[in-house]
Amino acid sequence: MTGGFYSTSLSRPGAVLAPMAGYTDAPMRQLAAEHGALWTVSEMISARGLVSGGDTEKLNLGRPYAGERGRVVQLFGADPDVLAAATSRAEAWFAPAAIDLNMGCPVPKIRGKGGACLLQTPDVAYTLVRAMRQATGLDVSAKIRLGWDHDRSVEVAQGLAAAGAALITVHGRTSAQRYTGHADWDAIARVAAAVDVPVVGSGDITSADLARERQRCGVAAVMIGRGAVGNPWIFTALRDGTEAWPDVGTRARTALRHAELQAAFYDDDSGRLTLRPLRKVLPAYLPDVPAVRDALVQVVTVDDVRRALAPLLDTPDTPAWPESSEGIGRPVAGYAVLQR
Ligand SMILES: Cc1cc2nc3c(=O)[nH]c(=O)nc-3n(C[C@H](O)[C@H](O)[C@H](O)COP(=O)(O)O)c2cc1C
Repeated sequence: MTGGFYSTSLSRPGAVLAPMAGYTDAPMRQLAAEHGALWTVSEMISARGLVSGGDTEKLNLGRPYAGERGRVVQLFGADPDVLAAATSRAEAWFAPAAIDLNMGCPVPKIRGKGGACLLQTPDVAYTLVRAMRQATGLDVSAKIRLGWDHDRSVEVAQGLAAAGAALITVHGRTSAQRYTGHADWDAIARVAAAVDVPVVGSGDITSADLARERQRCGVAAVMIGRGAVGNPWIFTALRDGTEAWPDVGTRARTALRHAELQAAFYDDDSGRLTLRPLRKVLPAYLPDVPAVRDALVQVVTVDDVRRALAPLLDTPDTPAWPESSEGIGRPVAGYAVLQR
């Protein structure tokens, strides 16, 4: 029995926040959800790590913010018993809406332990999905790349659907490509046409207009990763059919709120809280205000962020620049930095 989370969520317009290790923690998910994301996905969590204890870091990867709903937890691993146990534990500890299997991570560290290497042995992945389904009544999904070094996405997606995956997300690159070249949306369209479960497409969406164009290839929804860093408004635009790109003051206030959410979520009363992980994120809210960049990449505390943004926080609501005809007119200069 599946919980039907995905089919219910897909009855509304909008886009999905992609899982991104080092980015899609609770504060980023909260902002995306508040701005209209259909659902969000956690950073990947090691199934083995979760089963063998769960230190603070792993707990934080899966821990929801107060009131969080519509958040999928993503697990990686390669052993069916471990994945089954981790699925049960994730359900009990993290209250997710669904559980996703990572089949796309190309980082060498986890080769042989799951991620994209499962694309070389898809039969193992089918076993994992079956084991996960046995462990939970929630929807189980998988997120794949096109293949390891060549496109075998239709075959793999059909196998996953037969194993019981309720939804399949396809990042339109092979693992060998990592983040180079372009996502192949023709290949994603072929998968969408070949399976009878919903397919979500992922790769290189930088504007609401581009998202709408990609949506027309037959996918059930599009997923946005790097293009949503510093830009939760892309979800509002896709939910409401608008082209919202807010003024500088709104973006500065949202960047400050991101810092406040970060401080509240990670506060462990140790006094050691640092906003260093946000140094790569905060400037993305204000790509058109280079004057604040130097200060934002050095922040440690919320007060540092407030001081850096002070000249902008009371800016009256005036458009940052005329809307371009190409989407929401947001420069994507920092986009290439977010590769790994
Ligand atoms: C920094 C970073 C971390 C990522 N971490 C994950 C992850 O934990 N799990 C996953 O399935 N995909 C991960 N991805 C892949 C994204 O979910 C997405 O499929 C890919 O970035 C293409 O979409 P985009 O062009 O919209 O960013 C990551 C991508 C980036 C750039």
